[in-house]
Amino acid sequence: MTASDAPNPVPAKDWSAFQYEIYLNGIAGTVPRLPTDLSRLEQVAERRLGPGPVGYVAGAAGDGKTVRANREALDRWRIVPRMLRDVHQRDLSVELFGTRLPAPVALAPVGVLSIMHPDAEPAAARAAAAQGLPLILSTASSTTLEQVAEAMDGVAAGAERWFQLYWPKDREVTVSLLTRAAKSGYRVLFVTLDTWLLAWRPRDLDQAYLPFLRGVGTANYFSDPAFQAGLAKPVHEDLNAAVLHFAQMFADPAKTWADLEFLRAHWDGPIVLKGVLHPDDALRAADAGMDGIVVSNHGGRQVNGAIGAADALPGIAQAVGDRLTVLFDSGVRGGDDVFKALALGAKAVLLGRPYAYGLGLDGQAGVEHVLRCLLAEFDLTLALSGYTEPGQLTADALTRER
Ligand code: FNR
Repeated sequence: MTASDAPNPVPAKDWSAFQYEIYLNGIAGTVPRLPTDLSRLEQVAERRLGPGPVGYVAGAAGDGKTVRANREALDRWRIVPRMLRDVHQRDLSVELFGTRLPAPVALAPVGVLSIMHPDAEPAAARAAAAQGLPLILSTASSTTLEQVAEAMDGVAAGAERWFQLYWPKDREVTVSLLTRAAKSGYRVLFVTLDTWLLAWRPRDLDQAYLPFLRGVGTANYFSDPAFQAGLAKPVHEDLNAAVLHFAQMFADPAKTWADLEFLRAHWDGPIVLKGVLHPDDALRAADAGMDGIVVSNHGGRQVNGAIGAADALPGIAQAVGDRLTVLFDSGVRGGDDVFKALALGAKAVLLGRPYAYGLGLDGQAGVEHVLRCLLAEFDLTLALSGYTEPGQLTADALTRER
């Protein structure tokens, strides 16, 4: 028996129970504050939140072809339910990077969350910790990684947290960020490969809206001793110089596969490469000694006209087999999407925009609502389709249209 087959040491959580909680609250006269169909959140956010922030979150590269491709790629697959299989007891837990999680979902790294809600990343982090699920904290967070770790520990000491690296040009700053993350209990490193340059994003361009240039989403850099060492004056005395320093070191488009050795040398835990879309790149990740990949096109925010992430997933999962842990994001909006991604070869999915909208609309409670809806729907979809555990899902559970 491998670690990933080991039985769940803690009682499985009944995610579907959220459904009856909602109906029972209804008897007491309360209905959910946010939609339970998570695909509607964007529409509600567009109505209620400011045009700059909502444009930044909903926006995409170019005219949005890749965002649409992500949805189309998932929608092309259909679930083929099976009957009479005793699904009364289910266990959604999965083993990921040596830790058992209660469900195959983590919050994707989403930067600058303070534009959505003043409670920002700590609120999202508390929501994840309250559900026992990991948050992947973005390097571009509006709150320092230490503060976010503290927020999670306040809910559950040692709550599972992972760190996403926008790999800076500056080696000292890179090492400093990694050291701080490890010290604050972030266990898995996610290295984003698809954002060496910011893509052409018309919704942001039309509003000339980029929060980083106002010093928002730069907390990890501005608080970093190695970053500060490169400034003539403290950040608060010359914000423009600090922003310029940040912009110059944010990413290094000259990086190649050989550079991964540097990260290996400075990070003891698992490393996951985020933004892989070609089977050959996935194989290179395995050859480079990486532990996992996220099949992702950054939610259609980087290359307009790129392949839908779910179209890339089966070929990649097949190519890497057991060599890497394959995760998936880009387009997950409901329990059926989680089901499909797992059936196509992902071990777990990352949830992106829906939780950012949940945060914007209702703070920590909004993020918890989103997570609980997603997992209740996934649990029910799993059961109604004849399965009881994520590990049972294979492409046999699906059929492809067109
Ligand atoms: C992101 N994403 C992202 N990814 C990353 O590695 N670091 C980051 O800081 C961010 N920031 C970010 C901000 C916003 C507003 C969005 C919407 C996305 C990408 C994110 O991790 C994930 O790949 C996508 O959100 C997945 O697409 P969907 O499912 O949200 O459409």
